[in-house]
Amino acid sequence: MASSSPRIPHHIAIVMDGNGRWATRRFLPRVAGHKQGVESLRRCVKACADRGVGVLTVFAFSSENWNRPVEEVSGLMELMVGALGREVPRLSNDGVRLHFVGERAGLSPKMVKGLVDAETATAQNTRMVLNVCFNYGGRWDIAQAAARLTERGEAITELSLDRAMALAHVPDPDLFIRTGGEQRLSNFLLWQSAYAELFFSDKLWPEFDEAALDEAIAAFQSRERRFGQTSAQVSTATA
Ligand code: IPE
Ligand code: IPE
Ligand code: MG
Repeated sequence: MASSSPRIPHHIAIVMDGNGRWATRRFLPRVAGHKQGVESLRRCVKACADRGVGVLTVFAFSSENWNRPVEEVSGLMELMVGALGREVPRLSNDGVRLHFVGERAGLSPKMVKGLVDAETATAQNTRMVLNVCFNYGGRWDIAQAAARLTERGEAITELSLDRAMALAHVPDPDLFIRTGGEQRLSNFLLWQSAYAELFFSDKLWPEFDEAALDEAIAAFQSRERRFGQTSAQVSTATA
């Protein structure tokens, strides 16, 4: 039987999927689902901090999401700017340090200022790191890291690439959760998830509550992480 690891995952990454379906089922515009998604994120951040999670990384807008209808894209941009204004003081009070991860070219100057201000305002916080991946793609991240190394004339190795990646300030995710029932990565954390435990939830993101988070953490705790070793080696090392 696999040995259990009753540890809280240090780093949880989440593809917050299912907002659109949540809204459509209620005969609401899709943007209403994204609004509810912000509420769900607020609840999830608090629940993670309460459980001792060190890093939470969420996928808020992908490089590919620009392909959605213009009204939805502009709705998402407005929601982000609004959420920054409203949520940052609360996050800061809760000891959360914010990082925005993704390509900033293509975002409005107002948005970029909001992101930078939020990072500065929370830079001293130490309880939990919240990485919000916005205009992010795993392929973009690998390519931008390689381009930076080439520009600096540095050799491309696993270590140098890792250090040039947009999430170099945190260790790799331990638990990768996707809500909304789809079982795919959709270009999220391709490099960093090499050894993450995957958990797919049928709950739509606005419905992902504390109990659903605890279910994902319990699944993580029941897995044996072998990192290429045999089960016998792992049990000897942890005995
Ligand atoms: C995820 O929810 C949020 C973003 C991609 C911004 P979706 O909007 O993809 O919701 P579904 O998958 O259409 O239900
Ligand atoms: C992934 O969800 C992106 C975010 C949650 C921000 P999508 O809904 O865009 O993914 P696909 O298109 O179904 O793969
Ligand atoms: Mg989706």
